[in-house]
Amino acid sequence: MVKKKNICSIKVFKKLHIKCFIIMEEIPEEFFLCEEYTLFNESLGEYTQEFYALKSACTDYDLTGQVIWPGAKILSQYLLENQHKLQDKDLLEVGSGSGFTGLFCSHFARKVVLSDGNDIVLRLLEKNKVFGHCPIFVCKIEWNEDNSAAELESKELPIKYPVIIGSDVIYSIDAVIPLFNTINKHLENDGEFIMCYTNRAMNNYRVLLEESEKLGFSHEVLWNELNVYLYSFKKINN
Ligand SMILES: C[S@@+](CC[C@H](N)C(=O)[O-])C[C@H]1O[C@@H](n2cnc3c(N)ncnc32)[C@H](O)[C@@H]1O
Repeated sequence: MVKKKNICSIKVFKKLHIKCFIIMEEIPEEFFLCEEYTLFNESLGEYTQEFYALKSACTDYDLTGQVIWPGAKILSQYLLENQHKLQDKDLLEVGSGSGFTGLFCSHFARKVVLSDGNDIVLRLLEKNKVFGHCPIFVCKIEWNEDNSAAELESKELPIKYPVIIGSDVIYSIDAVIPLFNTINKHLENDGEFIMCYTNRAMNNYRVLLEESEKLGFSHEVLWNELNVYLYSFKKINN
């Protein structure tokens, strides 16, 4: 009797397992996706900036750009205090996420290009570009792809920029080489790449500085508190 019951429960378990498997197979992509954004209004100094973002991060690693990261405000504060670096200049932001920093800089710059490699994040940038204070463009720039120049050209945008910014764009050291190859391609010879970096793993900042130097960049620490750094990178041989 007991044996029979066991066999029966095994059968039920198997059936359930197969059913669960089939259900898992049928789960649509949108199951893990939230695009119900909240409208934020952030103030720094006398400037305010509206933008849409999620209040908290979703489970998907690639969707880190749907929320605003602490580095975005730190970099914006620095650029507010050093707005002369942006005046009358075209600005490119890499790994824009919600685009807060680029949008904030549109108070001071001539033209701002927000970019990201993730299509869902790019949809958010398209939604947020209406909040700009100078002409804002959105462009897909994926660091490990070499079609970024063509992407910019197709929108009649410059390929080289005097200032490029990025906040919290390196959270895995694997991103350093693709990112700096992209910066190399799009930074004017005497331009400046200003990046807010949070060091989340021991020694990562050393890899970042060594690899960026190998790729031809010098660096200067503009600001540092605990494990958060604001770096200025410049091309060495210009
Ligand atoms: C941690 S989020 C930071 C977003 C925003 N800069 C901020 O500080 O709020 C990193 C962003 O970089 C983008 N990103 C990551 N890897 C990328 C790659 N290989 N090419 C282009 N964008 C990338 C992500 O899609 C995401 O929007």
